Order: sequence, then structure tokens, then C-alpha cells
Amino acid sequence: MTDLTGREIVLGVTGGIAAYKSAEIVSRLRHLGAHVHVIMTKNATEFVSPLTFQTLSANQVVTDTFAAPEYWNVEHVALAKLAEVFVIAPATANILAKMAAGIADDMLSTTVLATKAPVLVAPAMNTGMWTAAATQENVKTLKARGVQFAGPDSGILACGDTGAGRMSEPEEIVEAIGRILNAKKDLQGSRVLITAGATRERLDPVRFLTNDSSGKMGFALAEAARERGAETTVVCGSVSVAAPEGVRIVKIESARDLLDAMMKEVPEQDIIIQAAAVADYRPEKRCDTKIKKKSGEAMTLTLVENPDVAREVGKIRKAGQVLVGFAAETDHVAANAQDKLKKKNLDMIVANDVTKEGAGFNTDTNIAALITSAGIQEYPLMAKRELADIILDKIVEMREKA
Ligand code: CTP
Repeated sequence: MTDLTGREIVLGVTGGIAAYKSAEIVSRLRHLGAHVHVIMTKNATEFVSPLTFQTLSANQVVTDTFAAPEYWNVEHVALAKLAEVFVIAPATANILAKMAAGIADDMLSTTVLATKAPVLVAPAMNTGMWTAAATQENVKTLKARGVQFAGPDSGILACGDTGAGRMSEPEEIVEAIGRILNAKKDLQGSRVLITAGATRERLDPVRFLTNDSSGKMGFALAEAARERGAETTVVCGSVSVAAPEGVRIVKIESARDLLDAMMKEVPEQDIIIQAAAVADYRPEKRCDTKIKKKSGEAMTLTLVENPDVAREVGKIRKAGQVLVGFAAETDHVAANAQDKLKKKNLDMIVANDVTKEGAGFNTDTNIAALITSAGIQEYPLMAKRELADIILDKIVEMREKA
């Protein structure tokens, strides 16, 4: 577990039912050795007593209840400067709106406006409020300014509704804090190219062949690379999640589009990670008009082979470039992956057995083995974001040795 000894963390608590969960955040942070300073909004104090946070943090809790103006002036600047990371959990729709607009009308909004520290928010609200156009606009604005988000998760909400808006688990928020505080900048000045998502191979204007890839692994890698300082590009097929902020996106549809994009992008890159699920075959013919049903007749599709993009990239690689591929397998995982490593001229392959629960397509987790010519290293089930950092650690290590 991350060591946070002596790190200064300011935690803003706003008025939502999830405020009680923030007590656990404080307690976990303290166990890791951090100094925690809690600021509560007036509404937050209606949900949880400041005494709870005072006891857990072993620090005075800042509230607005008896705030005199002089005290405000000193305190908001002091905590804004002291913070190495500024966390708001739970973050209501109201605080997000105030942050986006730069409104400073209480201790928390004033302090967060003044801070130069990285800011992490963990939204918690009713689904309707979270999905409201105004909130989503505010989220976009804040992300564009570099504010980081943990969650919200989906599930049953306090109001009885089901949907997005539940605060992330304290454990995940603490993990995100650790990541921010211990962020490595070991890819500063490097260019990283990642492929993500599924290709679509068209049959006609309204139909295509595709696969279950969500783009989550590729995007987790892109986010991790950006955080470590890389200039990051994602060549992106069909995906079911939003792309991370601060990365360049090149949209493609088919395997052949991917090949074209890669031939253009690859020469400029230092690290190339191919996480896209590429169709090996495409329909021989693409109809320009919708294919009509012929009742009573079976239909036969003829498929022709697509280019193996990774293999083509392997052929044009330049000295110093690191090439990484993925291997989705259902059997003989290590042997098949090792074979791909050689055939595609890769430095490393991330192999996963997609039949295992929690691995592969469209999940937030993965179970992977990293295979290089030096050997194989297996990892247990973990979040794709965590695996992304392990993959980048390994790449950095390989570049140092080269
Ligand atoms: N890949 C590619 N072009 C293809 C197929 C795969 O670039 N036409 C890349 C993937 O992005 C991945 C790696 O090659 O990095 C392995 O993909 P995978 O689907 O596991 O392997 P295939 O080579 O397609 O072999 P098979 O389907 O027979 O397992």
C-alpha cells in the first residue's frame, strides 16, 4: 500500500449523504501516515458532526459556523498553500458548479479556488442531477482545467433511484490520492501512441462486424501515460466509454483505417502500445445500399483477411522504439502469446485469458501476464488503471536497460 507519511492532504466535505463515508477516507489516509485537514460546508455539518472528523484527523475541522472574516482570510490561504492534494468527497452538484464558475462564498469554495495543488473530486448526487446538462458542462470545464475525478459509480442511490451518482468507495478514492501524490513523471518528453477499442468492418451502410472491446484498457493506458508526462495519442476505434482528457484522439473505423493511421503516426513515436481489438477478417464486399432480405434463402458471407496491423508496425519500427501488443486468448495463453511476440516483432505482449471472470473485454479489471523475451510475469486480478501503470513501469525499465 502507498506510503503517505507526512503528506499534507486537505479534504473538503460537502452536504450529501455520502459524507459519512468520508470519515473512512480520513481514517485510511491517517493509517498511511498522512496529515489530513478537513473543511466542511455548513450543509455537510448537518450530515456528520465536525467532531467525527476532528477526532479521526486529529486536527481542527474548519467550518463556516462561527467564521469571522479575519479568520477566513488567514485560514483559506493557509490551507490552500499547505495542500499537496486537495480532495472534495463527497462533491455535490453545487460545489462542482461553484468551482466551474469560480464562486467563492464559503470556506471550502474559497480555499479550493485559491489552491495551486492538484484537485481531486468524488461526486455524489442523484442520477438526474449528475446527468443534467448543467452538471455535465461543469464537469467538462473542470476536467479541461485539470481537475481529476474519482467516480461517480453506478448503483442504488440514497434516494432509491438506480444509476450513476454514487460516491466511489473510500478505498478507491484513497488509491487515487496516492496515485496523485506519488505520480511519476518518468515519461516526460516521450511520445506514446496507443490503439484502443474495436474495429468495425462494414457490410452495408447500417450493418457491421465488430467485437466486445470497450476501449477501457487502452484509455487506462492513455490516462496513465499522460499523468506520467507523455505526449499521448490514441488511435481509437469503437468504444463505449469517454476518452481521458488531455490526450490526442485519432478516430478510425476499420482495420484498414487503423493501418493507415498507424503508418502515419508510428514514425514519430517512442512507445507504441496496441490494445485495440482488431478484426482479423472483413466482408469481401461492402454494399453501398442496405442489403435486402431474401425470404427462404440462407445468406452466406464471404470474409477476407485484414492486414495484421501490429505486424506491419513491427516491420517499420525504428531503433529505440518500444512496441507492445496485447493477446486475447482462450487457451494455451502463454504459448500463443509468445508466438505473437515473435511474429509481430514486439518487445512485450500483455496476455490475458479472456475466459476468466474479471479479465478481458468490457470489464474494469483484468488478469494479465507480461511476456518479454526474458520471461513471463503473471499478475492477479486488478483494476485496468493499475495494470496500465504496471505495463508502463515495465516499458520504462526496458528503455533504461536498452
Ligand atoms: N492485431 C492487429 N491487427 C490484426 C489483429 C491483431 O494489429 N489484424 C494486434 C492487436 O491489437 C494485439 C495483437 O495484434 O495487439 C494480438 O491480437 P489478437 O487478436 O490477440 O491476435 P491475432 O494476431 O488476431 O491472432 P488470433 O486472432 O489468431 O489469436
